[in-house]
Amino acid sequence: MDNRPIGFFDSGLGGLTCIAPLTRALPRERIIYFGDTARTPYGSKSPDTIRGFARQIADFLVQQDVKMIAIPCNTVSATCLADLQERFSDLPLVGIIHPAAETVAKTCTESNSIGVIGTKVTIRSRTYDEYIHRLAPSLSIHSAACPAFVPLIEEGIIENEIMDLTIRYYMDSFISYHKIDTLVLGCTHYPLILENLRHLYPKLRIINPSEEIVGCIKNRLDEQNLFAERETSAENIFYASDLSENFVNMINRIFKNTGFTVAFKNFDMEANKCG
Ligand code: DGL
Repeated sequence: MDNRPIGFFDSGLGGLTCIAPLTRALPRERIIYFGDTARTPYGSKSPDTIRGFARQIADFLVQQDVKMIAIPCNTVSATCLADLQERFSDLPLVGIIHPAAETVAKTCTESNSIGVIGTKVTIRSRTYDEYIHRLAPSLSIHSAACPAFVPLIEEGIIENEIMDLTIRYYMDSFISYHKIDTLVLGCTHYPLILENLRHLYPKLRIINPSEEIVGCIKNRLDEQNLFAERETSAENIFYASDLSENFVNMINRIFKNTGFTVAFKNFDMEANKCG
């Protein structure tokens, strides 16, 4: 048993999409989340830059004495999971791509046409293709980068025509050309446009890695006997490198009426301190 918090980090608010399923599945666990909102988006930056950001944030989480680091960010998972695993060899580290690839491999067959969408870095890395093909070599996978989604989502431009047009710009021909029937949301921001996708493409089966990572976190905690044992959850802390209203509102929405306590802190990455 271990009552220390689980550390999460993402380039911004995208990783919050796994927090609601996590608190439902593991209500006793405490969370320390870091959203690098000052430097988002990561998905169009160089792998070296992303690696540097990821190390800095993981170091910060380790200083907060987390018992595990979960990386819901696909871009970071695709770029430097192995690097972080090497740096923190004593700490359980969970990335998002492997659990999602397992779900694809378990639930799809050769007759499916699978689409993976994500940031430029995630798609260029071909990590999804590699992980899925390791488990199920005969599956047919097509991928597309959708770089305009993240800035719009970070701005809260979701339930409107601009987002729907942007989705159609990237997806209409991708889906029809490859006859995609299963779509993997290879960026944690994308579950925030799930309703738009469902409305525009009602026949599509959608795999949401933000939900799949929760099962993987649960298994790792179980394997290493790290479950928290408290009855009521202590405070969850949400750090952002630029604490925006959108970030705070979204977290408040996730925790509304749940009885969990939430604190917000701004963390200045350059000065390496809160405030
Ligand atoms: N949400 C992140 C991901 O899952 C990265 C988005 C970005 O910052 O470009 O890839």
